[in-house]
Amino acid sequence: MKRFAPPPMNNQEIKADLRVFDDSSMLAVAAAEAFATSAAQAVASRGRFLVTLSGGSTPQALFSLLATPPYRTEIEWTAVHLFWGDERLVPADDSGSNYYHAQRLLLSQVAIPASQIHPVRGELPAQEAVVDYGQQLQTLASAGQAWPRFDLALMGMGADGHTASLFPGSAAVFEETKPVLAVTADYGGRPAQRVTLTPPVFNDARQVLFLVAGEDKATALAAVLQGARDVQTWPAQCIQPVSHNLTWFTDRQAARLLDPA
Ligand code: 6PG
Repeated sequence: MKRFAPPPMNNQEIKADLRVFDDSSMLAVAAAEAFATSAAQAVASRGRFLVTLSGGSTPQALFSLLATPPYRTEIEWTAVHLFWGDERLVPADDSGSNYYHAQRLLLSQVAIPASQIHPVRGELPAQEAVVDYGQQLQTLASAGQAWPRFDLALMGMGADGHTASLFPGSAAVFEETKPVLAVTADYGGRPAQRVTLTPPVFNDARQVLFLVAGEDKATALAAVLQGARDVQTWPAQCIQPVSHNLTWFTDRQAARLLDPA
């Protein structure tokens, strides 16, 4: 049973809610509130909160905030199951690891059971890491499904319009069945070998929240949200959740080139 429909490949403009904040710290506060609300709704409805974290630098202010009151105490961390939207293939204690920063800033401060933290095993060879991550996804999936329906997918976006490790020109952007792929990408001097979740997993999520901040993202943000549909050039356009629950939190710098109309 296919739960997702690939995004329409027409020129349809993305339907998304956009909120522009004065600066990245205000964005982080709003993101923490959204995370807490999503968690409360999921736990109340289904007894657990399945979330994929984004990597890079933008979410780190959010992680730090979630590790402080009221979020550290009010979110039911023992019901949270954490995955990563993508990871670099480096050891978990490497500063290039997305897990490393989430662990340092958040996971070491809150009561998520270790068995509910599902990192990509970055120390493994790429294909072994893909198989292992796919097996971790399957442990939380419904019978016959390869991945669970995430309650929240936190997404970032690079200055080139990539999201997770779905980069311009990559075939991974068009993947419709495999939940996890190994990719190579040269971006910002960051580790090139990566593992990423694919569009069907993100587009199956109940809620998708992009966090995008900084002047360097302005061109890509305008192209992704208001330009012609071209997912090969602007991969973030391929994130169109079937739930239609898609929100972009940006700061004024990143939103600078958006047409207010
Ligand atoms: C990664 C991230 C990536 C990130 C964007 C934005 O592993 O690199 O998952 O998709 O979200 O590159 O990164 P910044 O927040 O650092 O600009």
